[in-house]
Amino acid sequence: MRPYIDTLVTNPVIESIEIFHETTKLFPENIQDFYRCVAWYSSTLSGHYQVANAYKQYTDSRKIYLPKSTKPTTGIDDVLSRRRSVRNFTYFQVSTQLLANVLNGSLGTTQVSTSTLSEDIKFEYRPYPAAGGIFSIEHYVFLLSADELEMGIYHYEPRSRCLTWIKPIIDINQLHLATTLPYSMLTNAAFIILQTSVFSRVVNKYRERGYRFSLIEVGLATQTICLVSQSHGLGTLVWGGFREMLIDQMLGLDTTEETGINLIVVGLPADDEKDV
Ligand SMILES: Cc1cc2nc3c(=O)[nH]c(=O)nc-3n(C[C@H](O)[C@H](O)[C@H](O)COP(=O)(O)O)c2cc1C
Repeated sequence: MRPYIDTLVTNPVIESIEIFHETTKLFPENIQDFYRCVAWYSSTLSGHYQVANAYKQYTDSRKIYLPKSTKPTTGIDDVLSRRRSVRNFTYFQVSTQLLANVLNGSLGTTQVSTSTLSEDIKFEYRPYPAAGGIFSIEHYVFLLSADELEMGIYHYEPRSRCLTWIKPIIDINQLHLATTLPYSMLTNAAFIILQTSVFSRVVNKYRERGYRFSLIEVGLATQTICLVSQSHGLGTLVWGGFREMLIDQMLGLDTTEETGINLIVVGLPADDEKDV
């Protein structure tokens, strides 16, 4: 039995989040159901198909295919010991190559394998792990300052390593309101990455536990973006306090299906931030 859950639901002061966490644990009563569902995904054609097709594409929009990443200038030891949040950025225009280094290097598909059930089904792998190989998150780039590309909002496609144009950023005040980022950051940072989650992709397989897995995936991708950016001389700031409703609206997302989870600001650290 699960006596702790009974205590939680009868205690009004306990936060709903705690109840959620307890109810998503695996117990003798629910573990068989859980694994039955997991097994369906691993052993059926429909299951394989759903795993392989957990990604978004904007089919009717202009695509910019990014160049192959170049090798980072800093090794992993230095990257790990030097990474700190940056809150002061120096204005600079990011090159398409540098943008590609960050996006392809941290999020781009690294390997593809073929399903054992059908040659037509291809599974993809990225630099970060995801529960069951189902990538439940999407990445959008708010390009603020670039030497070549048009400023605006893009969607990043890991498989084809391209940016798809969504819309221009017309109003910086609107962006400030939605992100809550100070104007100094919006003016000096090069780009902001928005991470969204399409929960149904993992919830269909892992039920309530899938919600946890999707948030874990956001964290794994976040750290990868921070470290890859650092390895190319850029600084990052993870920014959790934004207004997801406004951000979702800006992108025209159906929030019952996909919603903003996290922002990462990327730019050139100001001199006083370089060796903190
Ligand atoms: C999920 C998450 C959300 C965060 N949100 C904010 C934020 O809204 N504003 C901010 O200034 N820093 C934010 N941070 C950055 C943390 O304050 C920072 O990582 C922490 O102070 C440790 O410092 P360091 O990153 O330099 O090691 C966030 C970090 C994480 C992981």
